[in-house]
Amino acid sequence: MPLERAMVHVEDRGFQFADAVYEVVRTYAGQPFAVDEHIDRLFRSLDAVQIHREFPAAQLTGLIREAVKRAGFREAIVYLQISRGCARRHRGFPAECRPTLVLTVRELESSAVLRAAGVRVITVPDTRWARCDIKSVALLANVLAYNTARQAGAHDAIFVEADGTVNEATAGNIFVVTGDVLCTPPKGPRLLPGVTRDKLLLAATAAGLRTVEDRIRRSELLTADEVFLTSTTAEVVPVIAVDGKAIGPGVPGPIAVRVYEQFRRLFVPAAD
Ligand code: PDD
Repeated sequence: MPLERAMVHVEDRGFQFADAVYEVVRTYAGQPFAVDEHIDRLFRSLDAVQIHREFPAAQLTGLIREAVKRAGFREAIVYLQISRGCARRHRGFPAECRPTLVLTVRELESSAVLRAAGVRVITVPDTRWARCDIKSVALLANVLAYNTARQAGAHDAIFVEADGTVNEATAGNIFVVTGDVLCTPPKGPRLLPGVTRDKLLLAATAAGLRTVEDRIRRSELLTADEVFLTSTTAEVVPVIAVDGKAIGPGVPGPIAVRVYEQFRRLFVPAAD
């Protein structure tokens, strides 16, 4: 249905409590990308917050494919949200309520310009909750951090712990390159296990780089040869400055390009 006609009840728990989880899937040339990985992660999020798996994987995959086909965009972004459902407002899990599924499709804005120019980021304290591995719609800390960055003239913010540990960006994972080693923080409760992150690690190995999943300190970010961010929507975006300090020569580096090209070769079907 048209977006204006899609409605959610005022007492939907997604609206009242952010009691909901989500996924963002993209298409390449009209084909949804890495759907199984996204649905696996959706199920892990649902299980972690005890929302019933009302919709089987095959049904969700079918819905995504159908919606993409109907929307008709070649490069599309599918947003899929499942809330616990609708019930009188109370923090207790309702005895009877069925999860609400919302799925939207929009045309994707290409990240090519950002990739060519690179972006400036700032670091901010990580004020999020302790389960950032769950793809929860409770994104207020991300919203505030992102807008702090925008107000400071930067493109995005990187969440950093009080002890200097770098976690991720407000909607993407982070990688640093030092020599021929590509490093990204290990999976755990402090960051979202990105689908793009995993594919990038494979692409980097295929491109002849060494990869490590290890703690990154803010100081290492500032002295790295290259830094880049990854996500479904942005794919790979080079960072050219952190907190006003240039990364390397202050322009997108060759490793980001090499890994991105390898990622496309390995995982993205050639456009016809
Ligand atoms: N964001 N970390 C955070 C906090 C994210 O929100 C995302 C994705 C990622 C990267 O995950 P993936 O590679 O699976 O997209 C990491 C989506 C795109 C969003 O919220 O729009």
